[in-house]
Amino acid sequence: MTTLSDAAAPPATATRYDRLQRSLHWLMALIIFTAIGIGLYCSWLVPGTPERQALLEIHKSLGLTALTLVVVRVLWRLAVGAPAYVKPLGRLTHLAAGAGHLALYALMLLMPLSGYVFSAAGGRSLPWFGLFQWPNLLPKDPALAELGRFVHGWGATAIYVVLGLHLAAVLWHRFVLKDEVLARMLPPR
Ligand code: HEM
Ligand code: HEM
Repeated sequence: MTTLSDAAAPPATATRYDRLQRSLHWLMALIIFTAIGIGLYCSWLVPGTPERQALLEIHKSLGLTALTLVVVRVLWRLAVGAPAYVKPLGRLTHLAAGAGHLALYALMLLMPLSGYVFSAAGGRSLPWFGLFQWPNLLPKDPALAELGRFVHGWGATAIYVVLGLHLAAVLWHRFVLKDEVLARMLPPR
């Protein structure tokens, strides 16, 4: 007989992330790549120009969306866990994958939070696509704003490296090892 708890638990044989995990992964990847592109482009524009201001409004809106989504994602991940690998990874590869994924989660929290601190403590806008302003929970504090900016800048460098390794690992699994790792994040065919 199937009980409610049996139905709610992920099947022990699951070999791919569930629908919510896959949707959040790809939606957030799109948001984060766009935010990085805009952020990087803005770093070449002269501060204060209307073009930079307008682009940063979009950048902040995307980043604050990512912050909301990552909270849901982390809670769901803690609740349901990760699927088993069809072909178990070696011990070192498993450790490296775990460390890389943990670093990505940490950066997905650190980037929007440091951006928030930078903007909020600097008395700057916290928009969401022109619809509303996020609450500013910090007093105006130039030193704290500078710290937020510093962390955001170094976090950006870290995310390039960790994300570069993440993509290289996926390509390695797909085209060299030819295993099922990419399929774990894709819908069943
Ligand atoms: C997933 C979230 C985010 C990512 C990946 C991200 C990434 C970046 C990157 C790559 C840059 C360019 C850094 C540089 O080379 O100088 C940047 C700049 C910037 N970001 Fe973000 N960001 C995120 C969220 C946010 C949020 C939530 C805010 C504010 C609410 C924000 C505010 C800014 C500002 C104001 C700049 C310009 C920095 C400056 O003037 O020096 N970011 N961001
Ligand atoms: C085209 C870009 C991307 C591809 C092809 C991709 C592919 C994948 C694949 C195949 C997995 C499963 C790995 C495994 O089961 O061992 C995965 C996991 C993961 N990816 Fe990506 N990814 C991309 C972009 C991103 C981005 C932009 C982020 C965040 C900054 C990200 C964060 C993560 C995290 C945190 C996991 C671990 C999920 C978990 O265990 O909960 N990915 N990705």
